Amino acid sequence: MAYDVPLPEGMKSDVGGWAESAAVIARKIHLLVRREGLRGTLRLARHKYRYVAEFTPARRRARRELSEFDRAHGVSTSAILDPSELGIAGPSAAFCFGHQPSPPERFAEIIGGLPIRFEDFVFVDVGSGLGRALLLAAEFPFQRVVGIELSAELDDVARTNIARYASPRQRCRQIESIVGDAVTFAWPPTPLVVYLYNPFDAPVLSRVVQSLEASLAARPRDALVVYYYAKFREVLASRATLTLLQADDELVIYRSIPVHEDEDRRAA
Ligand SMILES: C[S@@+](CC[C@H](N)C(=O)[O-])C[C@H]1O[C@@H](n2cnc3c(N)ncnc32)[C@H](O)[C@@H]1O
Repeated sequence: MAYDVPLPEGMKSDVGGWAESAAVIARKIHLLVRREGLRGTLRLARHKYRYVAEFTPARRRARRELSEFDRAHGVSTSAILDPSELGIAGPSAAFCFGHQPSPPERFAEIIGGLPIRFEDFVFVDVGSGLGRALLLAAEFPFQRVVGIELSAELDDVARTNIARYASPRQRCRQIESIVGDAVTFAWPPTPLVVYLYNPFDAPVLSRVVQSLEASLAARPRDALVVYYYAKFREVLASRATLTLLQADDELVIYRSIPVHEDEDRRAA
């Protein structure tokens, strides 16, 4: 096993290289064909195309980057897991997309580009998984870094990762993983950077955004919503309280208050 922090029983890391990925995919296809027949398997494959995408050079490069992060920091954050492997239940479980960790370079680019004074903000990772984005966020001088995660098993590993994390680049020491449903999360009453890396489907996203809006209405403050791999961006587009700051094919960033010029200068 390449990682020092063991994953819970039944959870397999999917980052052991091309051969390991191929074996995992072959086993899944074999089980599917037995259960669903060939036609059913082909139908499901359309929805499960991400396994096919695992073979592309870009994905293999990304996997290398992900596991390098774990090796460098003595943590275990790289597993790619199906929702069925997370031990989750409850009303939000059906809308969960499973676990995949944020790519470090892209994360640094996105968060590093925010026009804010980090010290004034709490970073909240909605669906924090094994804690990858929490550890990456701690490289910025946020007031505090908090993650909310539906799976108690992932949260457990995330806590171990946080305790073991060592990096000369770390600038925030207050990192916390909380187990719970993002829908009922109590937002910190501070300025917020809310990070979502494709955690769930539109119905749950909509409820989470409503809860954030209610919190901002009760206590008006600055909040940036960073939605990466923004599959359901239309959920954010229709909000009266949020203004679009930035958008590209995979990312949207919204903000609750207009950007002030003097604040921009301070952040520069
Ligand atoms: C794609 S992973 C992202 C992990 C981490 N944020 C990162 O960037 O490395 C999404 C995570 O969201 C979690 N999740 C899904 N639905 C959730 C919910 N309703 N409340 C809290 N977490 C949820 C999943 O269990 C999974 O760990």
